[in-house]
Amino acid sequence: MSFGKRSANALKPAPSSAPAPKPSAATPPPAQKPAAAPPPSGAPKTPQKPVALKPPPDMERERVHRVDTRSEEYYSTKTTIFNALIDTIDLGQLAQLDAESAREEIRDIVVEIISIKNVVMSISEQEHLLDDICNDVLGYGPLEPLLARDDIADIMVNGADTTYIEVNGKIERTNIRFRDNAQLMNICQRIVSQVGRRVDESSPICDARLLDGSRVNVIAPPLAIDGPTLTIRKFKKDKLRLADLVKFGSISEAGAEILRIIGHSRCNVLISGGTGSGKTTLLNCLTGFIDPTERVITCEDSAELQLQQPHVVRLETRPPNIEGSGEISMRDLVKNCLRMRPERIIVGEVRGPEAFDLLQAMNTGHDGSMGTLHANTPREALSRVESMITMGGFSLPAKTIREMIVGSIDVVVQASRLRDGSRRIMQITEVMGLEGDTIILQDIMKFEVEGEDDDGRVSGRHRGTGIGRPRFWDRASYFNMERDLAKAIDALDT
Ligand SMILES: Nc1ncnc2c1ncn2[C@@H]1O[C@H](COP(=O)(O)OP(=O)(O)OP(=O)(O)O)[C@@H](O)[C@H]1O
Ligand SMILES: [Mg+2]
Repeated sequence: MSFGKRSANALKPAPSSAPAPKPSAATPPPAQKPAAAPPPSGAPKTPQKPVALKPPPDMERERVHRVDTRSEEYYSTKTTIFNALIDTIDLGQLAQLDAESAREEIRDIVVEIISIKNVVMSISEQEHLLDDICNDVLGYGPLEPLLARDDIADIMVNGADTTYIEVNGKIERTNIRFRDNAQLMNICQRIVSQVGRRVDESSPICDARLLDGSRVNVIAPPLAIDGPTLTIRKFKKDKLRLADLVKFGSISEAGAEILRIIGHSRCNVLISGGTGSGKTTLLNCLTGFIDPTERVITCEDSAELQLQQPHVVRLETRPPNIEGSGEISMRDLVKNCLRMRPERIIVGEVRGPEAFDLLQAMNTGHDGSMGTLHANTPREALSRVESMITMGGFSLPAKTIREMIVGSIDVVVQASRLRDGSRRIMQITEVMGLEGDTIILQDIMKFEVEGEDDDGRVSGRHRGTGIGRPRFWDRASYFNMERDLAKAIDALDT
């Protein structure tokens, strides 16, 4: 197949009046553009503030994860061929093709350029180059090899030259690089345009999602001083299960059994933890113990949970559009849930006034509802719930809010990412009641740090606290699980 300028005038530079491709189309910038994102047409031009230069990175001290093993020579050949391709191809027409045909088209032209320019390459080098160029024109460019790996948890791009990844709990610098900030900005644009959004100088912050479900945040200059900054939480196809967490030492077997009983016996649970501490993973594990007959409704900002039950309704919030309207907040979703006859409500992340609606759901017959929130200890988690409700404009006395908290939340599970990169379940804590103005908490299990081994790994043990009969005992016995609970509590190492 042939089309566009190629058939008419093969391998001649395109006239400068070539029509500008649509923003959502494959539009790699010319390789020689200055290293700054081009301002969008029509966007207000903000006067450039003088920006302090970033000190050069201390590369000596940083271990670089070599994802990309190609040489400088390879890159210079690639740039030559890429430029010839851009001059030859009609990007407007390319954008009309489906991905497979577009790839074929690019391959044909690149093979032609290689032979015309007499570039000496082995077949495998040529295959690499073809893949690379197709990724640049149609896909996510240098991000593709990172996106293809399932062992990477996060990808963090801080401008064209700096990309970090998180592998095995550790953050490492990689040698992945973009041609320049314009290429990076272009890829960010391509990602967010898939969810109907735009990112540029006039709307420089954007959340999006990749087709595979990965969560994306982009913040662009002038807010991000050193270039477009892209953060991706990779979607794990095979979510970790509670058995995996036991294998990794994130929790002991007895602790995992207690979590199973908590999930099955419909306790209302909050999962608390810092960023990336494994809250969503833990929530996903707990949902595994929901009975298949229950009707479950999940509310998330970006659908990450993978419930295995047949009767699940998944809801997702919507950010405002470019004009700032059309937002559907988490609170809208949780409120709507209540009219959908849920048996359990699962909130991906409680961040604002929806805390009030979730608590109400929890103590009005939707036992077994769950949510995660950012906090460093179970007590802090509860005081965050309180302040989310206060700040949400509900003019309730503090004591009433605390009564609501105590009346609805049964258990807080605390997750943490420790300094060695490992994730642990630090506490399983029960909410006991209110004494005066103070919420009484009781730990059932705790992780105690004992030290560090020779490899710098944190060592410690999950210990029971000597509680013989947790408050949710009656609940467990209602679900015929009191024997299992007694056994698990006995098995906790004290
Ligand atoms: N116990 C664990 N052991 C090893 N890896 C884990 C564990 N728990 C979670 N992970 C991995 O850590 C990464 C972050 O996990 P997760 O998304 O659950 O964190 P989070 O606390 O919900 O993050 P955020 O605050 O960004 O929502 C994922 O790649 C996940 O697979
Ligand atoms: Mg999460």
